[in-house]
Amino acid sequence: MSFRTIEWRDDKVVMIDQTRLPGEEVYVEYVDYKSVAEAIRGMVIRGAPAIGVAAAMGVALGAREIIADTHESFLQQLNNVCEVLARTRPTAVNLFWAIERMKRVAEANRDRTLDQLRTILKEEAIRIEEEDLALCKAIGRHGAELIPAGATILTHCNAGGLATAGYGTALGVIRAAHEAGKNIQVFADETRPWLQGARLTAWELMKDGIPVTLIADNMAGFFMKRGEISCCVVGADRIAANGDTANKIGTYSVAVLAKENNIPFYVAAPTTTLDLSLASGDEIPIEERHAREVTHLHGFPVAPEGIRVRNPAFDVTPAGYIAGIITEKGVVRGDYRQGLRALVEP
Ligand code: MRU
Repeated sequence: MSFRTIEWRDDKVVMIDQTRLPGEEVYVEYVDYKSVAEAIRGMVIRGAPAIGVAAAMGVALGAREIIADTHESFLQQLNNVCEVLARTRPTAVNLFWAIERMKRVAEANRDRTLDQLRTILKEEAIRIEEEDLALCKAIGRHGAELIPAGATILTHCNAGGLATAGYGTALGVIRAAHEAGKNIQVFADETRPWLQGARLTAWELMKDGIPVTLIADNMAGFFMKRGEISCCVVGADRIAANGDTANKIGTYSVAVLAKENNIPFYVAAPTTTLDLSLASGDEIPIEERHAREVTHLHGFPVAPEGIRVRNPAFDVTPAGYIAGIITEKGVVRGDYRQGLRALVEP
């Protein structure tokens, strides 16, 4: 990869600052868990798998900050650290998955010294990052098989290397198809209001030499109707047991347009994005963000002062619109309830 989303380096957590892309490629260092929580909330790092990695590394930093004499006190303080990190963003399940995994590791190693525990937690966070990269590569391998040669692929938001430990989920499929010499090109929705498509997807695909065309969100239907889009591939923040999928606001509109125009609409996500405890997408918590993201562009007002605003950050695409869910273990189609469960059952 030509950039690094997040890494543990010299006992610091280093992230590329996604609020400053594409203008500036700046890497920020974090030494305490509260700043990591702020970075997640403030979107210095974003994207479901990436915030999972950041939360895990935040837990590992928190473990180093804890002053304790006993394991009881250490684990209790670690729980507080986890709570702070868990309160940052509600929709992407990867965040909670990663925090739970860190907690389990801490519990399972009660017999170690506190210093050993701190090292074990650091190693676990790094492992989560390394595993995520491997998951993305596997998603890419499975997904590339679905992409016809010469395809024009529409994607929404940024489900790329920037949203993961690297390589990406939806962009992992795109990267793998490109690497396989399929001569593909990408249409990137700009993705209002935060502009993940314009600022991040366009940046990372251009950086890697993958042909990409930027369109405003309201242009997707125009290009679909004219037969210029072969398929859609998007990422996911949380997938319920029936296959309903939460992803960046606007994804549902893309899926409906795709169905209307007989274009396959695929979701690419690791199994760490599954939340089989939820029967359907209706139960997925949807984050609402600050009005300023809608009323301002780069600090400039684009709406009258005092206007009432709604700003849900995600929507849910019902499973019926999804032609396939591409995971690291293969592609699930048709009966999602059964297919998704089979992926996680031993
Ligand atoms: O608000 P964001 O930028 O964190 O939202 C990100 C998305 O919706 C992505 O599509 C999703 O997390 C998948 S990332 C591989």
